Amino acid sequence: MNKVAQPTIVVASNKEDAARCTADLIHETLRENPASVLGLATGGTPIGVYRLLVERFLAGELDFSAVTTFNLDEYIGLGPEHGQSYRYFMQQQLFDHVNVVREQTHVPNGLASDISRHVTEYEEQIQQAGGIDLQLLGIGNNGHIAFNEPGSAAASRTRKVDLTENTIEANSRFFESAEDVPRHAITMGIGTILESRRIVLMATGKAKAQVVQASLEGPADPVNPASLLQGHAGLTFVLDPESASELQL
Ligand code: GLP
Repeated sequence: MNKVAQPTIVVASNKEDAARCTADLIHETLRENPASVLGLATGGTPIGVYRLLVERFLAGELDFSAVTTFNLDEYIGLGPEHGQSYRYFMQQQLFDHVNVVREQTHVPNGLASDISRHVTEYEEQIQQAGGIDLQLLGIGNNGHIAFNEPGSAAASRTRKVDLTENTIEANSRFFESAEDVPRHAITMGIGTILESRRIVLMATGKAKAQVVQASLEGPADPVNPASLLQGHAGLTFVLDPESASELQL
């Protein structure tokens, strides 16, 4: 009988501790291989992780000079200088403060004129880099990972997607109004994410408790994209007590 891989679940003592646990996992990966390929995420959740990585770089404990990064997603229509673009976020939170080589950082280009060609090239670049060693993920209230909204297939690849009203509403806190939130995005697919050797999903706060429970203990169903991670051999969920509060087991 084949044994299905069980995820590792880390329940940290609080949000800050969850960021420290996640930073430790990235640190460990870079210690094993300073030329690692990291998959990176945006959103509020990983901000504390990036702060710690910057601190550790400044303390001389981390070196990003040989690291390659691939971000999960980007809004279509927002360029690198737009304050809400994910390229801008990454520069502000991490890249501008460490010694990563700009050419080795990849974020989908929200202004690409030929999106279908761009997404194919993005997948090729991941392959050429040797695949992703550690992919960091957050989770949306509706279970979206990157911008793979409910209904996304487990085999989906990097592509253009429409955002749901739920996500537009949730992300409007970063914009002046919901009308300003782009309606489309480029996202790595779930199939792309599942090819990563290690996946670390971080979630904090009560608002994520239900979706975390469904993702770990419910059926693997495209209705909840994060549940499609179940069975990945290198999956870790890093939670705080609030986001873990609905877990039954
Ligand atoms: C966005 C991003 C996701 C992220 C999600 C949750 O929609 N595309 O990658 O996981 O928001 O964000 P937060 O961490 O702010 O809750």
